[in-house]
Amino acid sequence: MCGITGYVGGREGSVRLVLDNLKRLEYRGYDSAGVAVVAPNSPTVTVLKKAGKLSNLMNSLGDLGASSGAAIAHTRWATHGRPNDGNAHPHTDCSGRIALIHNGIIENYLDLKEQLLAEGHTFSSDTDTEVLVHLVEERLKTSNGSLEAALRSALASVTGAYSICVVSEMEPDVIYAAKTASPLIIGLGEGENFLASDIPAVMEYTRRVLVLEDGDFVKITPDQVTITTLEGELLQRDVFAVTWDVSTASKGGYDHFMLKEIHEQPQTIRDTLRGRVSDTNQVMFPELKLSREQLLNFNRIVIVACGTAYHAGMVAKHFYEALLRRPVEVSVASEFRYSDPIVDQHTLAIIISQSGETADTLAALREAKVKGATTLAVVNVVGSSIARESDEVIYTYAGPEISVASTKAYTTQLIALYLVGLYIAEQENRLGPTVVAGYVELLKALPAQVAQVLKLGPEIKELAQGLSKSSSFFFLGRGFDYAVAMEAALKLKEVSYIHAEAYAAGEMKHGPLALVEPGVTVVCFATQSALYDKMLSNVKEITARDGGAVALVKDGDEGLDTRSVDSVLRIPSTHDWFMPILAIVPMQMLAYYIAAALGREIDQPRNLAKSVTVE
Ligand code: F6R
Repeated sequence: MCGITGYVGGREGSVRLVLDNLKRLEYRGYDSAGVAVVAPNSPTVTVLKKAGKLSNLMNSLGDLGASSGAAIAHTRWATHGRPNDGNAHPHTDCSGRIALIHNGIIENYLDLKEQLLAEGHTFSSDTDTEVLVHLVEERLKTSNGSLEAALRSALASVTGAYSICVVSEMEPDVIYAAKTASPLIIGLGEGENFLASDIPAVMEYTRRVLVLEDGDFVKITPDQVTITTLEGELLQRDVFAVTWDVSTASKGGYDHFMLKEIHEQPQTIRDTLRGRVSDTNQVMFPELKLSREQLLNFNRIVIVACGTAYHAGMVAKHFYEALLRRPVEVSVASEFRYSDPIVDQHTLAIIISQSGETADTLAALREAKVKGATTLAVVNVVGSSIARESDEVIYTYAGPEISVASTKAYTTQLIALYLVGLYIAEQENRLGPTVVAGYVELLKALPAQVAQVLKLGPEIKELAQGLSKSSSFFFLGRGFDYAVAMEAALKLKEVSYIHAEAYAAGEMKHGPLALVEPGVTVVCFATQSALYDKMLSNVKEITARDGGAVALVKDGDEGLDTRSVDSVLRIPSTHDWFMPILAIVPMQMLAYYIAAALGREIDQPRNLAKSVTVE
């Protein structure tokens, strides 16, 4: 999830302008930044890029800050290749005449890179993006020197997600742009036009915006915007008048980043699946070096993480034990590191961390390595300490998570962990290709199902108004539902400051039931078919004590309705193993709306930090 801005028009200081606009997109990524400009008089492409925050680049602009001409700028959130100067965008072709910025992932970049290397291209970065600009250069040879035709041809050869902007010496007054599965908008001016990943970037200059759609290819000059399909067919897009203020706009129209990030989950789940499932629905991890022999050599799996990431590990434990029939232990990192853990060279240690910098998790990783385990990190931040030090790393593609309370990172961790389980089962021949394909099909259906769950927003908001008066919450479930209950309770306490606890539903009668009384809300998860009847009995234990009961059930569930509980939330159905993804989303929304009803500091709850780099 990177940020893009662009400008064509006659203003002086276009470099400064695109970088100022980029500042409003820093929430999209901030590990490096860069700019390219084409001087109008003696058209040459000048590029400057720097690792670190945008301010780093802005401080080193020198005379370039005053430059004018068509300009594009980029702030990066690394996906392929570490955050450093070389991997920062823009990337240029061998001749340095074309500069390109990109947000997204080119899935087939390794194959394309191999072909281009054979054709004599040399590369100066590890990115998928650089491959694309070299491909454009190669296609120029067969397009009679037409940059537009070369771009169309190159884009037709790539698979994956992209929004791109291109400037070149060949057409100094033009920016070419295209979009598939990553956002891009055009801000319309008078004798000038703007480009950006998101609306707030252009709002200082215009409120007339074109929101591009997947497959759009655009030629932008100071006076004209021409949108076509990749094949060249002319398209019309409606001009959208922006009425929001800048602060709301930076959150995509949402009041808080937490809500925005909850709504991004269909896309982030799709992004995390992308490139990891084949056309025949088999699981692929080109990034893993682990051999089949190594996988067979592991007799146990330990999962280590903190907080929300630990809860993702709890779901994975249930999944791996069911699928791989192998013991799986999940440990809180701060306990694991001091427990002299039973780990050896036959252990696969899976380390989960959004930030990749959590001090306890990093120490636990080191401890597992010292004891001989093979470590596999599931991490969101490319190039973070945990990613660097782990033997193997699988990235989640949640993009930057701004809200302290984690939402989209959790669901993408689950997706990555499900894929790892299926991958191991496949490698060990535990599951045949048809069975794997069936499960993958269900995973691929999740983004659309999450989008359906998000439609419960208004209903949950109304429910939250009443529940915000509760003095305390319990979240109850069995099996996978218990793991989700733990995450639901954490979300609620973090953002609402209401006391909340998760319990394995069968444990209530062993003590905590004494706390259930009017004013206490008990959220009961009943999404697991095999445990459903047991859960019904647990719900009755609650309602008999006058606790307020909310049930979370699958669509079509006849056993729980408003005669038996106070409220019922109904969510779409999938295999029980994958229900945690669908079950957590309404709980994220519930936590959010209760916190909103109580007027809490939702994105930055008191006493908490996004990345916990101390013990
Ligand atoms: C809760 C939350 C925290 C983190 C925990 C680990 O919403 O975000 O519980 O999950 O601090 O952080 P990472 O995943 O960065 O290691």
